[in-house]
Amino acid sequence: MAMIAYKCPQYRVTIVDINHKRIAEWNSGKLPVYEPGLDEIVKSVKGKNLFFSTEIEKGIKDSDIIFVSVNTPTKSFGVGAGMAADLQYWEKTARQILQNAESPKIIVEKSTLPVKTALAMERILTSNNSRIHFDVLSNPEFLAEGTAIQDLENPDRVLIGSNQTENGLKARDVLVEIYKNWVPSDRIITSDIWSSELSKLVANAFLSQRISSINSISALCEKTDADITTVARAVGFDSRIGNKYLNASVGFGGSCFKKDILNLVYLCLHYGLHEVADYWEGVVKINKYQMERFVLNMLTSMFNTLTGKKISLFGFAFKANTGDTRESPAIFIAKRLVEEKAELVITDPEALQNARIDLKNIDGKVSFIEDPYDAAAGCHAIALVTEWDLYKNLDFEKIYRSMIKPAFIFDGRNILDHNRLFEIGFNIYPIGKPALTHFE
Ligand SMILES: NC(=O)c1ccc[n+]([C@@H]2O[C@H](COP(=O)([O-])OP(=O)(O)OC[C@H]3O[C@@H](n4cnc5c(N)ncnc54)[C@H](O)[C@@H]3O)[C@@H](O)[C@H]2O)c1
Repeated sequence: MAMIAYKCPQYRVTIVDINHKRIAEWNSGKLPVYEPGLDEIVKSVKGKNLFFSTEIEKGIKDSDIIFVSVNTPTKSFGVGAGMAADLQYWEKTARQILQNAESPKIIVEKSTLPVKTALAMERILTSNNSRIHFDVLSNPEFLAEGTAIQDLENPDRVLIGSNQTENGLKARDVLVEIYKNWVPSDRIITSDIWSSELSKLVANAFLSQRISSINSISALCEKTDADITTVARAVGFDSRIGNKYLNASVGFGGSCFKKDILNLVYLCLHYGLHEVADYWEGVVKINKYQMERFVLNMLTSMFNTLTGKKISLFGFAFKANTGDTRESPAIFIAKRLVEEKAELVITDPEALQNARIDLKNIDGKVSFIEDPYDAAAGCHAIALVTEWDLYKNLDFEKIYRSMIKPAFIFDGRNILDHNRLFEIGFNIYPIGKPALTHFE
């Protein structure tokens, strides 16, 4: 919405949310999320044509177009628990719109939703024999956290799904006009609503499938002394495959990948497509396996016991350049290490506040230190979990001197200079390549 306000000064954009604290933060000088470049854009339009408010009813009444971007977490109860999308926030929003609208509206489904949700929304909006006309569009968001601003400014594509009726196509054109202010026309794709909703789930499924594919091969590389970086490079040179999303790692996180694949799996099961469901569920299984493998590798390499050992987690965000920790592999790893009775020191340049919340009920010794040098001092091992650039350029000689020996580094993102660290004296355990150790 900030990008729309920034690129289209002729539109007035108001963001409304039930969360008063969040809205207060957006209105303050310190934004509630860390995202490179966002601060500048929000500052340049806030109070001009971008406003933040908790007055939802007024927001509905005053607007011609409503983008619904509420959360759609995985259902934790009843039918489809652990897999299907929890649509309660969506339905509440639809009913609120119906109650408060006094003029025709275009409703844009921005949240990621399983196919046919727009139909449900349409049904709610046309119930009550409402005399007001609503058009529902699907416009899934493809931005990635950490690169959101560049993804929004220069998107690979914008996808807009609409009913193929006269009204539906008219509403679609209104949204196309907005994006045309900065997105080239050939990157604005239009379709029917169902294909648009499904495309978002499938895009996330394909992206996470690539990560699980390379991670599954990293396990084989570790057993056979092949090097995953070499394999990924050789494979990625094939122009049909390409080199993106082929970095082996500790696993994927974030609020979307797992949720969206599980939605896809649930959808397939609903339609009796068990083989298809199993295929995609494998992506999530491999991701969990990779995180568990990382912990087991730490355990076996550190002489089969972590009890009382002090381990520093370098990074807690689910990826670099965000403070978001939702579904971060760091959460899984931290919990497992504490089960093994290790003592944890968590460090991260942007995510410590969220890390504290994620681990608040953990039954073990955990501390949070922003400075990575202080975090590593007195530790037996470092587990690098998030690929922050700053970790590449640390003074590892200084870190080595401050740690208990033998000192271990488990590089869960393969971003460090392993040979150099080995020369300093560390025992190095990368992902998908031979360990470098000083043991006989
Ligand atoms: N985070 C991403 O990178 C990303 C990318 C693409 C798509 N999406 C999709 O966008 C949607 C939102 O994701 P998010 O990460 O922003 O979630 P989020 O939980 O951070 O934000 C959702 C917001 O909606 C508000 N809300 C809930 N019910 C409301 C209501 N009835 N009225 C007004 N506000 C209400 C919540 O208070 C919250 O602030 C999800 O469907 C997600 O899959 C997210």
